[in-house]
Amino acid sequence: MNNMRLASEPDFTDADFQRVRRIAQEEAGIHFPESKSTLVYSRVSRRVREMGHTSFRSYLDYVQSPAGRGEMENLICALTTNVTNFFREKNHFTHLEEVVIPNIAATVRAGGRGRLWSAACSTGQEPWSMAMSVMSVFPDAANHDVRVLATDINGQVVAQAASGIYTEEETEAIPAGKKSQFMTPCGQGNLRFSGNICRLPAFRVLNLNANWPIRGTFSAIFCRNVVIYFDEETRENLWRRLADRLDPGGFLYVGHSERVVSRSQCGLEQVAPTIYRKVY
Ligand SMILES: C[S@@+](CC[C@H](N)C(=O)[O-])C[C@H]1O[C@@H](n2cnc3c(N)ncnc32)[C@H](O)[C@@H]1O
Repeated sequence: MNNMRLASEPDFTDADFQRVRRIAQEEAGIHFPESKSTLVYSRVSRRVREMGHTSFRSYLDYVQSPAGRGEMENLICALTTNVTNFFREKNHFTHLEEVVIPNIAATVRAGGRGRLWSAACSTGQEPWSMAMSVMSVFPDAANHDVRVLATDINGQVVAQAASGIYTEEETEAIPAGKKSQFMTPCGQGNLRFSGNICRLPAFRVLNLNANWPIRGTFSAIFCRNVVIYFDEETRENLWRRLADRLDPGGFLYVGHSERVVSRSQCGLEQVAPTIYRKVY
């Protein structure tokens, strides 16, 4: 690794990279392959500078000291990839609208409850899309016991998600009819979710690889484009835990490049390339 950096660039050695790798694995289950040192440097160096350190080593010493415990969250935020979009992988939302939500509507009209979970929600485009799908099929949902739980390890993106505010450009993937139905302009060219739809999502910070203070089970869980950052053991554990949180007949949606492998199918049957149904 090249240790030569400009004066303003913090020192970064292979030992520092290994230390960041260990922290990412232990704190978030995120696995950085050996080849990703440049990526780690580019993600974390700004934070190192902002905190007034001239080397990764002194920054990491601080993060791992009792005084730096709060900074650990910022380090994990810097390491996470938050790319997302509204109605990403549209077939999932079609399936949700055609199969899951009509069932939820029938259940709650009979006095039950409906629960959906966006398990790595990033800046909120995924859970807000789920909420739009719910409202489109079941317009009265907000007057019933229907919720979309939206969680992520990164508190900064969860706060953004909870604000429900997006730029015009960020909302381009929302069909025009849904956009005018659920969003209103809120200044500076931004749009915000407004009206009854805002009663559906509940935003929380949650590490998928730690304990989940969550009660009950879900009709559908979206866990998409996050396990790609985990190692195989972490992935398998997570699939098992998510399967435990599904209602019988509930659905797990994974990212387009992700699969629940057979060893960990844990009662899940594949009904489409990235959609699994809990059989029992
Ligand atoms: C690429 S985004 C995916 C967002 C959305 N699910 C989608 O598919 O558009 C990955 C998200 O996973 C979150 N993440 C990474 N590790 C996590 C963990 N251990 N627990 C919870 N969320 C995590 C990141 O903070 C990031 O927001």
